[in-house]
Amino acid sequence: MNTEIINSIMPGQVILEYSYLLSAIMFVIGLKLQSHPETARKGNFWAALGMILPMITTLILNKNGAGEGISMTNASVVILVIIVGSVVGTIMARKVKMTAMPQMVSFFNATGGAASAAVALIEYDKNPNEAVLVGLLGLVVGSIAFSGSMIAYGKLDGKVGDIFSKIMTYVNLMFMIVITAVILLVIFGGFEQDINTYLVYSLLVLSLIYGVSFVMPIGGADMPVVISLLNSLTGIAAAMAGFIYQNEAMILGGILVGAAGTILTLQMCKAMNRSLINVIIGSFGGGGESNANVQGSIKEIQLSDAAVLLSYSQKVVVIPGYGLAVAQAQHIAHELENILESKGVNVRYAIHPVAGRMPGHMNVLLAEADVSYDKLVEMDDINPDMPNVDVVIVVGANDVVNPAAYDDPGSPIYGMPIIDAHLAKNIIIMKRGMGKGYAGIENFLFFNDKTRMLFGDAKSSIQKLVNEIKSL
Ligand code: TAP
Repeated sequence: MNTEIINSIMPGQVILEYSYLLSAIMFVIGLKLQSHPETARKGNFWAALGMILPMITTLILNKNGAGEGISMTNASVVILVIIVGSVVGTIMARKVKMTAMPQMVSFFNATGGAASAAVALIEYDKNPNEAVLVGLLGLVVGSIAFSGSMIAYGKLDGKVGDIFSKIMTYVNLMFMIVITAVILLVIFGGFEQDINTYLVYSLLVLSLIYGVSFVMPIGGADMPVVISLLNSLTGIAAAMAGFIYQNEAMILGGILVGAAGTILTLQMCKAMNRSLINVIIGSFGGGGESNANVQGSIKEIQLSDAAVLLSYSQKVVVIPGYGLAVAQAQHIAHELENILESKGVNVRYAIHPVAGRMPGHMNVLLAEADVSYDKLVEMDDINPDMPNVDVVIVVGANDVVNPAAYDDPGSPIYGMPIIDAHLAKNIIIMKRGMGKGYAGIENFLFFNDKTRMLFGDAKSSIQKLVNEIKSL
């Protein structure tokens, strides 16, 4: 075959495009595997491979229109950035506490948004006469995802407070209208290049401000939903950047992130029985004033009584929450499960979709402690069996078992599905004191006649309980 024929088939380009296709397939395999705790690690591995492959093939094979490959200088810069990014990312991921994971996700998401916005801006600067819709949308969506995610990070880390005001809804609406108008002006206005450049940079500033004003009024408890939404925006922005470069790997990767983020956002809304609009423009839940009076009193349980009660039960359900994560009580909870099972007690874990501070938080923790997956039962599956459960042990969970969600229309969590701990025959609640949950409200379950409190750090309480059961 002579060189002309080889050039006409452009083998490098073909290999490059096949590598992009292969990377998309790896992303899909990764996503599929990530949908189950048992295979999630493998899923991460496949997705990482799907990321590395196009980076390598692009560096080696990519050519511009003139048939020139990436220069050595540019390649060295890209490789340096990949190395620095990988080292920083690995250190952060290894050091982060499980409870601070949502903040990290938010921060990483912000960097993705910033990168996509930067691509759009740089490409505009290179070719100011070719301001196209897709580039402008990439700039807007990427900037919103960046500043919105940074505010979400600050809120989750307790550095930024909430600003609840109905006026913000109108302010945000105004921002959307102005941003749309500026995009239309750049594309159809037929202005001089100088004016267009001015408009494009105004678009950047407006979008950054809009990201802040969009997230500021959203209640802290709604942050996971917002992070997931911002995550899908980052995916969309990355796909836009892919369109600018005509790069299939970026387009496909971005679309997959966008779609996965959107599905997760909607599923979380469903888990809280709320619409996305309600999350974005409303406060948490009903947002009204609770007017229900607490009835009943707080009763404590002695360790020895709890040990006897559990040992002579047939069915026990552990309901883990954020406090279990804080106390790192997952390993000792597994030990409690083992010791009770050895006495013939059936032990299961009831998993609420928004228990903890991130989707799948409890699954990840319990998987880390080697709890068998078939012991983890989803809220909808365990609730019908609750009246038959002898004892529920609520470990550092609060909002996800608060019956105010059913009984108190004024409560901020009214309408949120909960685990029906109140229907069990006996309720033991492990927490340090009478601290409130994430939604900051009183929990009527603590005052229920069937409830006994076991105060203390969850890990040490369960350890003491295990010792007590062993000594029976
Ligand atoms: P929360 O309602 O936040 O309650 C956690 C409880 O754990 C607190 O009341 C606290 O009471 C107790 N606690 C803290 N440290 C403890 C320790 N070392 N030992 C024992 N107990 C400890 O948690 P939840 O029931 O899991 O509900 C989750 C909430 O977070 C929901 O409102 C949800 O909407 C929101 N949220 C969820 C997510 C996702 S996606 N999962 C993300 C962000 C927010 P004491 O201080 O008295 O000990």
